[in-house]
Amino acid sequence: MKEKLQAIRENALARIAESDSLDKLNEIRVAYLGKKGELTEVLKGMKDVKPEDRPKIGALVNDAREAIEQKIEEIKGKLASAAREARLKKEVIDVSLPAKKNAIGHSHPNTVALEEVERIFIGMGYEVVEGPEVEYDYYNFEALNIPANHPAKDEQDTFYVTDKIVLRTQTSSTQVREMEKGKLPIRMIAPGRVFRSDEVDATHSPSFHQVEGLVIDKNITFADLKGTLDVFAKELFGSKTKVKFRPHHFPFTEPSAEMDVSCFKCGGKGCRFCKDSGWIEILGCGVVHPHVLEMSGINPEEYTGFAFGIGLERIAILKYEIDDMRLLYENDIRFLSQF
Ligand code: DAH
Repeated sequence: MKEKLQAIRENALARIAESDSLDKLNEIRVAYLGKKGELTEVLKGMKDVKPEDRPKIGALVNDAREAIEQKIEEIKGKLASAAREARLKKEVIDVSLPAKKNAIGHSHPNTVALEEVERIFIGMGYEVVEGPEVEYDYYNFEALNIPANHPAKDEQDTFYVTDKIVLRTQTSSTQVREMEKGKLPIRMIAPGRVFRSDEVDATHSPSFHQVEGLVIDKNITFADLKGTLDVFAKELFGSKTKVKFRPHHFPFTEPSAEMDVSCFKCGGKGCRFCKDSGWIEILGCGVVHPHVLEMSGINPEEYTGFAFGIGLERIAILKYEIDDMRLLYENDIRFLSQF
């Protein structure tokens, strides 16, 4: 009996030690300790044992049961920690790996240029205002001294919504809206989108952006205009920049001019950039026409002013040396992210 118990015990312990899963451990438990298990069978045979030997054999059976149970628990623990180890290994995070970069957008060259223009004028005490893109003919033309049948109306090929409503062809409409408010003096810039029925090419687009400027106060002269725009050009293109005013005509200013800046690429010597002239045109400007002031309810005897209109794309193209305006509208992130 004793030898048999010893054999069962050793056998069981060896099988348990070799188990590699919880299922197998369970099978072994049933095989030895279950209702019909080997050890249980031994207990059933106790009736054949001499009464005086029963306590001894009973103790041996209990010993064997305890040893088997203990071994099962031990192996169970080992299997569990091995499983945990494997899981941790699989889930391990390598903190030294470089982080994945989220693809984020990029400021458009127009936006960068506009922010720069705004920064300069805000620094000189200007307010930034906006006006509607769908505009009355009155604000876009009439109040700017461009009456019906005026040839200037043809110069800016207009998109008409109705007889009286247009897609604004110039941000100059914001001048009128600002003057009409009746709050003087005025020192404003108005950036915005404008529309003209132009064919798309390297320098034209049916929709582009301007920054309008307007100053109205007592004793404002052409000298104020020149001084202001000179500071602006130097801030934008560098302190060595020179400016030049060429006489021009706009219906809403008198006198009117176009302003050129010395080519910042060649310093004025002449290059591909300035088409060998040494100068680059960047804006139109002038002293506000008395008739324009009058139409918006401002007394031209008391107040005078100057205005200017900057092509924003032109600034962006010059500043970032972009040679085709169409690139600005395609929004290819590979292009945009260079600026
Ligand atoms: N509105 C003009 C244009 O689109 C630009 C301009 C010229 C605006 C002279 C002005 C100005 O305010 O004074 O061509």
